[in-house]
Amino acid sequence: MSSFVQGSAFIDEAYVPIAEAKISLLDWGFLHSDATYDVAHVRNGKFFRLHDHLDRFYASMQALHLSIPYSREELCSILSHCVSQSGLRHAYVEMITTRGLPEPGSRDPRTCTNRFYAFAIPFVWIAKPGASLEVIISERQRIPSQSVDPTVKNYHWLDLVMGQFEAYDKNCESAVVVNQDGNIAEGPGFNVFAIKDGMLTTPDEGVLLGITRKTTLEIATELGYKVVEGKLSPQAARAADELFATSTAGGIMPISKVDGKPIAGGQVGPITQQLQERYWALHKDARYTYSVNY
Ligand SMILES: Cc1ncc(COP(=O)(O)O)c(C=O)c1O
Repeated sequence: MSSFVQGSAFIDEAYVPIAEAKISLLDWGFLHSDATYDVAHVRNGKFFRLHDHLDRFYASMQALHLSIPYSREELCSILSHCVSQSGLRHAYVEMITTRGLPEPGSRDPRTCTNRFYAFAIPFVWIAKPGASLEVIISERQRIPSQSVDPTVKNYHWLDLVMGQFEAYDKNCESAVVVNQDGNIAEGPGFNVFAIKDGMLTTPDEGVLLGITRKTTLEIATELGYKVVEGKLSPQAARAADELFATSTAGGIMPISKVDGKPIAGGQVGPITQQLQERYWALHKDARYTYSVNY
């Protein structure tokens, strides 16, 4: 069995088995969460919407004064090589740029040499196909947009992780946190959608603009549903006909219970199901895919 079977990483211009991938303790990505990242996925040997992920990744780096020496084509080839090296047909592929290490003794981020890392590991599901999520709506606030721009994908996750612990204390598996107005923001690695009377609403404040969220908005519009990017109050979410989460790590995932109360009778709602089917069908559409060269 190849030592790359659990995944492959790209560090310091070399590909190594994921278990051997190591970074410096002094990297500010680790010490200060001073980094940006993106996660794309490979399904049946093909990346889904890779260029959308790369657009977001390059925009995030620019917003944070980070840069890497790789062109988009070089980046595609590095990510693709991580996947082919591991042999994985379904993969979770992460790319990370950190501030790196400063000049010795300096605290000036401008002296840092930015670092780029990437890895491919077996696909990670927030909720497996056929499964649904049970969430709580936490009163914990997502870090304000004025402090950390949520559209720049970042590792400021303590609010989300503490929300998860609050959920575990209530015998629930995940949590959604709120924005400064007390409306729903997002969950650990996912955006949220509510459906009421055939209309979809997804929060637009204090959230990452997820690629799966974007795909869902496109699919729903194409199917003739009205979509709104705006406020979603906890009350509206609890009263929704259907509720679901969206993420690269699982696609469109039904939420069957909120704060212990069933949504859509605890079943997968018909619109959620229709969107889910279309989402996975798009993975066979050449307009959205980029093949890994194994
Ligand atoms: C905080 C947060 N919100 C939403 C998402 C969903 O984004 P995407 O659909 O691009 O995976 C993620 C993905 O990891 C995330 O970290």
